[in-house]
Amino acid sequence: MRQVRTLGLLGTGVIGGGWAARALHFGIDVVAADVKPEMEAWIRGAVANAEGALSRLTFAPLPPKGRLSFTTDLAAMARQADFIQENIPEQLELKQRTLAAVSRHAPRDVAIASSTSGLTPSDLQRDLEFPERFLVAHPFNPVYLLPLVELVGGQATAAETIEAAARFYTHIGMHALKVRREIPGHLTDRLQEALWREILHMVNDGVATTGELDDSIVYGPGLRWAGMGTNLIYHLAGGETGMRHMLRQFGPCLKWPWTKLEAPELTEPLIDRMVEGTQQQAAGRSIRELERLRDDYLVAIQQVLRQFNIGAGATLRSLEERLYEAGAAAARGKLAAAAAGQAGDALRLLETQVRPEWVDYNGHMTDSRYLQEFGDATDALLRYAGVDDAYRRSGRALYTVESHLTHQAEARALEPLYVASRVLEVDDKRLRLFHALHRARDDARLATAEQLYLHVDSAAGRASAMDAGVRSRLAALQAAHARLPPPSEAGRLAGRAG
Ligand SMILES: NC(=O)c1ccc[n+]([C@@H]2O[C@H](COP(=O)([O-])OP(=O)(O)OC[C@H]3O[C@@H](n4cnc5c(N)ncnc54)[C@H](O)[C@@H]3O)[C@@H](O)[C@H]2O)c1
Repeated sequence: MRQVRTLGLLGTGVIGGGWAARALHFGIDVVAADVKPEMEAWIRGAVANAEGALSRLTFAPLPPKGRLSFTTDLAAMARQADFIQENIPEQLELKQRTLAAVSRHAPRDVAIASSTSGLTPSDLQRDLEFPERFLVAHPFNPVYLLPLVELVGGQATAAETIEAAARFYTHIGMHALKVRREIPGHLTDRLQEALWREILHMVNDGVATTGELDDSIVYGPGLRWAGMGTNLIYHLAGGETGMRHMLRQFGPCLKWPWTKLEAPELTEPLIDRMVEGTQQQAAGRSIRELERLRDDYLVAIQQVLRQFNIGAGATLRSLEERLYEAGAAAARGKLAAAAAGQAGDALRLLETQVRPEWVDYNGHMTDSRYLQEFGDATDALLRYAGVDDAYRRSGRALYTVESHLTHQAEARALEPLYVASRVLEVDDKRLRLFHALHRARDDARLATAEQLYLHVDSAAGRASAMDAGVRSRLAALQAAHARLPPPSEAGRLAGRAG
């Protein structure tokens, strides 16, 4: 399977739009194809809407945003894509026919995935050319914020297709859950449907309103589910003997049964109760308003879970680790050349672009992003010196104790930028760096930062000597940079001319 630079989307509704936003955000180009030309405006709107929440998900250095193009020519999309994700309506015959047609235009090493909520891959791949490159990859709405994607192979799917797809989805920040065996509804929708069926019964029987049933989840189990699933939670509920005790105590109830397996008849009165109930819950708020609220708390929850390194927070953490490492890898060769005295210039450590969501009401890059750019350059330099995740886990880190920024010119959306960095001073415990942010097109200097870092033993909570290897790599850079003229902004007080 190919390395994925361009994602082809087949069908650009709710799910196609979500895939586009996620892929573009993580630097993948997208060719979106839909039979309806009016979907171009829709998908561009969907991508713009997703940007606000996505931009707050992580501050790790991201590659430049991917480019979005749209076509109504499905064959043209198939010829350009390195990976195709199908998101057309949930109808078996329509999906079979369209997937088969697309497979005749897509080169053999292009994987084709379906977002189907419940159809099985063996059925969908039946008429495909090279069916071994087909799989089901079932995402969750909003695709741009929820990391889960269920990967399911059919009878003809090659194991390599699943592996290649898992690599791609992980690259765009997802948790690829490999489903062992194809079943209608895969794993998650089977579980979700069981819950929904019970809701419909209880509304139908007049036991509770839609709002009361939602409260029964939101104030209780829903909070637990973000970090631990039903099984682990029940293991805890069983006390010292865990799941064994839990099954002994509550197992018999499963047979009574509390729940009903057959869905109720969807009568008009039941549909009315469901619709009226959810309208009351929405309390006049539009779908867009509710989506924004949902997106905001989904971002916040993932950031909290990241602290505990569980669930979606663990996915976010490993994504960030990869992004920081990618930034550092690009800088590593330059740092090594500088330390060996071969590069006589300040180091161009970070190459980036002003992402549209970084721009404030003036149309310029907003204040906080300058500090972020300098922070990312520092991270790349420190990783080269040996201060990486393993070093931090050993309880040692460099803390920022002082920053002095100067702003000299503005940067607009999509402007390519780079940060040039120098080591001004290093001793056992302290490191002084100087960064300059430049516009790539004319090398104009936009801002500078002089920053002082203190090496700290995090457990003891006090300054400590840094590792000798880290210090000697930083000292080699300092010696190389000492040959450059001193930066006029270094050592300046705020408001005083240099
Ligand atoms: N909505 C969800 O919550 C959700 C979640 C996970 C998976 N899915 C699955 O994703 C798929 C798409 O669902 P959706 O909610 O985005 O549907 P949708 O109705 O919002 O979008 C479907 C799009 O496909 C286009 N289309 C129809 N026929 C086409 C064809 N032959 N070629 C190209 N485009 C065509 C339509 O114009 C429309 O824009 C379904 O299989 C669904 O089961 C949906």
